[in-house]
Amino acid sequence: MADVSSKVRATSSARRSLAQLAAEAAGCTACDLYRDATQTVFGAGPQGAPMLVVGEQPGDIEDQAGEPFVGPAGRLFDEILEEAGIDRSDLYVTNAVKHFKWVARGKRRIHQKPNASEIVACHRWLDAELDVVQPRVVVALGATAARSVLGHPVTIREVRGKVLDELDRDVGVVVTIHPSAVLRADDADRRAMRTSLADDLRLAMAAARTTGRRTG
Ligand code: URA
Repeated sequence: MADVSSKVRATSSARRSLAQLAAEAAGCTACDLYRDATQTVFGAGPQGAPMLVVGEQPGDIEDQAGEPFVGPAGRLFDEILEEAGIDRSDLYVTNAVKHFKWVARGKRRIHQKPNASEIVACHRWLDAELDVVQPRVVVALGATAARSVLGHPVTIREVRGKVLDELDRDVGVVVTIHPSAVLRADDADRRAMRTSLADDLRLAMAAARTTGRRTG
């Protein structure tokens, strides 16, 4: 049986692996996005997290803070996680693209969607995060994340609501909407979109906690 000191050693070496990856990614020049971004925003969360959540790319606030999902979309994501009964500290949260892509409009930095080659260039880091974290389920928030995770474009409404078994690794995938889509929605649609996102997160967490997790 492992004694306390070997448990501590195991934890710190796992942390070092993610820390090492983050340090390597900090110098990534695989696409041009590093040129205008403040820094690489690597994923955050524990090694061994049952669920790994992938967003699109850091926003303006995340670019400055160096942490994923800490701006307006992140705050909404936290609220929806709470609604779904999920503790964010149990999750590893990252992005398909790890630099903020933007154009200037006056003094504002306006978010630009990453293109296919930027998504592909950044995929090495998501792969490395999956290798180290070893989640049971990956949640892709929105079309960019889904494209990166699955390796091909999907129509979200056609694939959501089930656990996909498409990857070459032992992990299920749940595709759902991005919290930013809820933020942008009309008043009439917002409540239902929020509820449906919470439902998808609940489904993913239930699958992550079940031994035979694949259901779709
Ligand atoms: N949107 C994302 O997809 N990721 C973040 O980190 C913040 C906003």
